[in-house]
Amino acid sequence: MSDHTSGLSTPATGTPQPMKKATQLHAQPSATFDAKLAETEAMLRQAAAHFQPVTQASSLGAEDVVITHLIDALALDIPVFVLDTGALHPETLALLERTVHTSRVPIHVYRPANEAVVQFVEREGADAMYRSIELRKTCCSIRKLEPLGRALQGKKAWITGLRREQSNARADVPLIDTSEAAAKDLTKFNPLANWTWGDVWHYIATRHVDYNPLHDRFYPSIGCAPCTRAISLGEDFRAGRWWWEDEAAKECGLHVKKTEAA
Ligand code: ADX
Ligand code: SF4
Repeated sequence: MSDHTSGLSTPATGTPQPMKKATQLHAQPSATFDAKLAETEAMLRQAAAHFQPVTQASSLGAEDVVITHLIDALALDIPVFVLDTGALHPETLALLERTVHTSRVPIHVYRPANEAVVQFVEREGADAMYRSIELRKTCCSIRKLEPLGRALQGKKAWITGLRREQSNARADVPLIDTSEAAAKDLTKFNPLANWTWGDVWHYIATRHVDYNPLHDRFYPSIGCAPCTRAISLGEDFRAGRWWWEDEAAKECGLHVKKTEAA
């Protein structure tokens, strides 16, 4: 049995043992890992060469640290942006600070308009997101979508860490997507679309990539602190995101297609 909150597991003897790291638990390359990695590298080179200005969207989750590491390793001219919603975990903010200092490429941080956040919280309370999907989406709109619009302003392309395996809603994520509602004539690259969770952690483990320690505590998918929890054995990858909502509602609007937006 494991205690997700303390980070310790309790074996039959009752003596608490340090829990296994995410790298130990998940790193397992698929048979085609090398081919996928080569395809990802080629895609990032293509984006840097032909889609300027291009930027990487990073939540500092496992997929995103892999992409930033690749951008750095390939010496590509692709700056990174992070949406600091004002509600991220301390562990995520600490990783952001480390990344700003260690990354070769610039890391741009976008924050929501302070006035809009203050007014929303004063009007609806700090726990508004739990009361209705509408209030949750308003919060996401203020804290994520408005800053996303600024981050993508004038960009020709952006790069995300979306993977097909993450959820049913993402099962058809293409490697190159031109159906985005976020902005006109904006191409979205999803270079890890066909990577498995084992592939992601194989890369992190073998390249010694810095990652969010919440991944060691059963948080596979990490968003804002009030809307993210650890998952239990057997739960879906995104079960810890907006866990009180239906599966179908579980997107914050960062990745909405033109048809869905209409
Ligand atoms: S979400 O829509 O549910 O929040 P998820 O957390 O799975 O998305 O992340 C999917 C991709 O969206 C990430 O790989 C990253 O490219 C982008 N993304 C998510 N959150 C952020 C963030 N706070 N800042 C920048 N990009 C983000
Ligand atoms: Fe607000 Fe939660 Fe959306 Fe973050 S994920 S912007 S805290 S509703």
